[in-house]
Amino acid sequence: MIDTERRRSRNRPLAQRRSTEDELRRLGRTHAVLSRCNRSLARALDERALLNAFCANLVEVGGYGFAWIGYAGASRRAPLRLVAHAGQGDEAFAATVLACANAGNRRSACRVACEAGTPVCLRDLSTPSALAPWGDAALGQGYRSMIALPLRADGAAFGNFSIFADSPDAFDAPEVALLAELADDLAFGIQTVRTRAAQAQQVRCLRNDAERDARGRLAATLHDGVGQTVQALNLGLKQARALAERGETVPVALLDRLVDEAGEVLRGLRAVSCELRPLFLERLSLLDAIRHQCSETAQRTGISIQVCAVDRLLTLDEQVKEQCFLAFREALSNAVRHAAAGRIDVVLRVRTDDRLILTISDDGVGFDTHHTSAHPAGLGLCMIQERAAGVRGRACVRSTPRKGTVVRICVPLTEEPILCP
Ligand SMILES: Nc1ncnc2c1ncn2[C@@H]1O[C@H](COP(=O)(O)OP(=O)(O)O)[C@@H](O)[C@H]1O
Ligand SMILES: [Mg+2]
Repeated sequence: MIDTERRRSRNRPLAQRRSTEDELRRLGRTHAVLSRCNRSLARALDERALLNAFCANLVEVGGYGFAWIGYAGASRRAPLRLVAHAGQGDEAFAATVLACANAGNRRSACRVACEAGTPVCLRDLSTPSALAPWGDAALGQGYRSMIALPLRADGAAFGNFSIFADSPDAFDAPEVALLAELADDLAFGIQTVRTRAAQAQQVRCLRNDAERDARGRLAATLHDGVGQTVQALNLGLKQARALAERGETVPVALLDRLVDEAGEVLRGLRAVSCELRPLFLERLSLLDAIRHQCSETAQRTGISIQVCAVDRLLTLDEQVKEQCFLAFREALSNAVRHAAAGRIDVVLRVRTDDRLILTISDDGVGFDTHHTSAHPAGLGLCMIQERAAGVRGRACVRSTPRKGTVVRICVPLTEEPILCP
């Protein structure tokens, strides 16, 4: 008796220690899942990959038996749709849970979590519950507890994230709180990926429109401008030949007109080819091409444009030169067209860490950059970013209404890409 007592008192601290160790191990695992899921959020490129990554993280890192995500339909009675799952049991088990959740007269934990917008936790699946119509199937797979977490956006649940564990009471209060946070992060990630996809689609549409416009402009210049002048030139030449054939003198006025028309054709063709690719870029350095463009723009618009180059002269890779020039030309054209600027400053410099920095600043009206990035009005600002990214750089636009705009293009001159400008 005394011996048994002694054994018990010796064992008690050990049992307590074990439970504390278990507790710590469990929380450690949940934290590992959170950090892995954060990484998945940061890297998510598309919605499907994000959902699969979250389910896989819970099973592979968190050690839970099964995880699945279902989206609710538009109406309350619409069935849940399975969109991702991971863990043992896979398809067949997921199908059973889904069928039970969608059976019209039953209220399973997943549906209740979705409708109420709060987590529903079933601590021991061996105790029958109306919330677990798939209870037998879960026990058959070896699962003893589960939690259903709502995925919420704008105050309403749009889906459910359910997790099954092998042991009863696997989800205590701190764990429920952490998993609820995880579900909120996932819901936020899903919204972000969707917004990004919608913006990318909008940019694609804008680009298609802009390309169609540019093609239309070029076709109009060639057909109406250059084409018509060539036609007039052709007629004039025929007229001159007829005169010559009859042995008459071709009047100087006619020849002057033909020379003028030929000159006009040449200018039209130059304008078209310059729009396609500025030819002077081939023979000029980036700095000289920028100076050339600025002096032409200053003459045409009357705006004071200052160009300043700091540091050493550069021999740039052709692609870097072209992309930097085209990005600069768009920023300059924006400053001229939208800013009502009195002065524009262009600064070109190379930093000691081998980064080319090109800034175009104006003292004009400025604009709300958050608004334009959410609702792009044109393609120019996106193209500046894309051109910089195309040569492993970055571009950023800072603007304050009534305080002018600064476009900063930063491009690496080494192999290292730039992650933040
Ligand atoms: N330097 C600037 N000053 C004032 N507003 C600007 C400037 N640059 C851009 N914006 C604003 O951002 C919008 C988007 O510019 P952009 O993407 O180049 O398209 P677009 O020039 O075809 O309108 C412009 O319509 C204008 O409202
Ligand atoms: Mg523009």
